[in-house]
Amino acid sequence: MVIRQILHYPDPRLRRVAEAVERVDDEIRALIDDLADTMYQAPGIGLAAPQINVAKRIIVIDTSSTKSELLVLVNPEIIDRQGEQTLEEGCLSVPGIYDTVTRAERIKVRALDRHGKLFELETSELLATCIQHEIDHLEGKLFVDYLSRLKQQRIRKKMQKQDRLAM
Ligand code: NI
Repeated sequence: MVIRQILHYPDPRLRRVAEAVERVDDEIRALIDDLADTMYQAPGIGLAAPQINVAKRIIVIDTSSTKSELLVLVNPEIIDRQGEQTLEEGCLSVPGIYDTVTRAERIKVRALDRHGKLFELETSELLATCIQHEIDHLEGKLFVDYLSRLKQQRIRKKMQKQDRLAM
């Protein structure tokens, strides 16, 4: 089990646009395992590779209450979106901060699994929001970007203070 360090907002490395995975090989599968271990240990319900300082298009998610339904998405792409829903979100890169974000209510996503096999998934509610949140990470985008500038300033200050105290 390998627990990687999670980057915290406003670390500029969280702003890089991640690169597509060319081939899902053993190296990528090892990275997927590290991501999953790190997410479960945190604990969190989603984690994207850029959050552990790897600029590749890989995300892991598990919204089940039993923590037994790991979803792996490599090179995910949203191919259809419908409706709107507003849910409260948090992020392992912005610990302790929660706020509401409006996103599509229903999405269809296409991705590769941990064996490099293409699949499509249609989903709604929490899982739909979670997938959209994690895909944002691949674009260097964070959920706090959807909040007012004033809120963003407050969060940045709070995070910088927290991380100073943690050192
Ligand atoms: Ni996040």
